[in-house]
Amino acid sequence: MAKDWTPSSWRSMPIEQVPDYPDPMALAETEKRLASFPPLVFAGEARKLTRALGEVAEGRAFLLQGGDCAESFAEHGADNIRDFFRAFLQMAVVLTFAASQPVVKIGRIGGQFAKPRSSGSETKGGKTLPSYRGDIINGIEFDEGSRIPNPERQVMAYRQSAATMNLLRAFAQGGYANLDNVHQWMLGFVAGSPEAERYRQLADRISETMNFMRAIGIDAENHPSLRETDFFTSHEALLLGYEEALTRVDSTSGDWYATSGHMIWIGDRTRQEDHAHVEFCRGIKNPIGLKCGPSMEADGLLRLIDKLNPENKAGRLTLITRFGHEKVEAHLPKLIRAVEKEGRKVVWSCDPMHGNTITLNHYKTRPFDRILAEVQGFFDVHRAEGTHAGGIHIEMTGKDVTECTGGARPVLAEDLSDRYHTHCDPRLNANQALELAFLVAELLKKDHAANAPKQAANF
Ligand code: PEP
Ligand code: CO
Repeated sequence: MAKDWTPSSWRSMPIEQVPDYPDPMALAETEKRLASFPPLVFAGEARKLTRALGEVAEGRAFLLQGGDCAESFAEHGADNIRDFFRAFLQMAVVLTFAASQPVVKIGRIGGQFAKPRSSGSETKGGKTLPSYRGDIINGIEFDEGSRIPNPERQVMAYRQSAATMNLLRAFAQGGYANLDNVHQWMLGFVAGSPEAERYRQLADRISETMNFMRAIGIDAENHPSLRETDFFTSHEALLLGYEEALTRVDSTSGDWYATSGHMIWIGDRTRQEDHAHVEFCRGIKNPIGLKCGPSMEADGLLRLIDKLNPENKAGRLTLITRFGHEKVEAHLPKLIRAVEKEGRKVVWSCDPMHGNTITLNHYKTRPFDRILAEVQGFFDVHRAEGTHAGGIHIEMTGKDVTECTGGARPVLAEDLSDRYHTHCDPRLNANQALELAFLVAELLKKDHAANAPKQAANF
C-alpha cells in the first residue's frame, strides 16, 4: 500500500476547486450514506483495464476515450446513452481496423459530473453568482438557489451513474455491440457523408474482411468476441469527498480501489504535486489519467510520475496531453524525451479539445480543423520521437448537436445556437466524431503501414 496514505489523507493537504457547501454537517452525512452504498465497479474490472492499458503503453493497442464534457441530470435518457455508445463503437471499429490493434474503449460516462472552473463566479446582466460546477455539485440555472452546492446531488449522481452503467453493461454484453450491427451503422454513416469517397475505401476493406471471416465460419454466433465488447467508464476525480466515500478495500488483493468508475483522472487545474488530488490518486490502484497542459514542465512531470506510478507499472498511468493545436510541437517532445530517458512506462493520449476552445457569437466552441490539427501534431511528434501515439481523448455525443464548428457537414458560426446543449464544453456531434475517427485512421495507417499486424485485432 502507498506509504502514509489513507482514503482521507488528502483532507490535510491544500486543495483547489472546492465547492463551498453551506452546511458541512449535511455534507458529512451524505458522504457517510454514500460510503454505505454498493460499489459501481469492481476491482477486478479496474485491474483488467490496467492490463489493457499496459498493452497500449507497450505499443500493442490503441486507446479511445470519449464522452460528455459534463453529464447532466437533464440529459439522462436511454436514447442519449444508446446514441453515444453507437457512435463510440463505430469509431472503435474504424480505429481497430486501421491500427490492426485492439482498441481499449473508455467512456467519459457513468460519473463525469464534477467540473473545474477557471473562475469561482459568473456575472450576467450585472448579477454575480457562484459558478456552475457540474450537476453533482450545483445547478446550471442562473439563480441564487440553484448555484448553492447541495450534497443531495451527490446521491443523485451516484444513482444516475449506476443506471447508466447498467445500460452500458447490457449494451456491451447483451448483443447490441455485435460487430455486424456496428459495421452496418458505420456503412450508413459513410453513405451519407459528403466525404463518402474518401472514407469508402477503408469501409470497403472492413466489409471485405467481414465477408471473408463469415465465409470461413467466424461469426457472432460462434465467436463471443464479435458480439460482446469490453467497455470501461471514467471521469475526473475532482470531488474528493464523493471519491473517498466510494473508495473500498478489495478483498482479493487488500488494495484500495476507487469504485466510482474504472479509470479516474486528475485535471489540469488540480495536478499540483503536494496537493489533495494527487494525494488521493496516488493511493488507489485504478488506472489513473493525468492531464498535461502547456504549463507542465518535464521535471514536474517526472516528479508526478514518481508519486503516481512509483512501481513503473505499464497501464497504471495515462498522460493526456492537451496543449492546443499550435503548441503541440513546442511542448510534447520535451515531455516525451524526459519520460523516455527515465524509462517510465506511460500511455500517451491526445486530448485535442481543451486547448482549442474559442468564443464565437458568445458561444464557447472548437473548430474541427484545430481539433484535427492537434491530433495530427501529436502523431507527427510521436513518429519523430519513435514513441507510440497511444490514443485520443475527446468530448463527444451521439446526438446531432451544434457545438463545435466545421466538419464535412459543417456547423457554421451562425448554426451554434440551433442545438447547443452542452452543460460545459462544446462536444463533437456524432458525425464529427466519426469523421475524426476516419481521419485518425489515416494517421494510424501511416504509422502501421510498414508493420504486419502483431496480433489479431480483437474487437
Ligand atoms: C475536462 O476534461 O473536461 C477538463 C476540464 O479538462 P482539463 O483538466 O484538461 O482542462
Ligand atoms: Co471539458
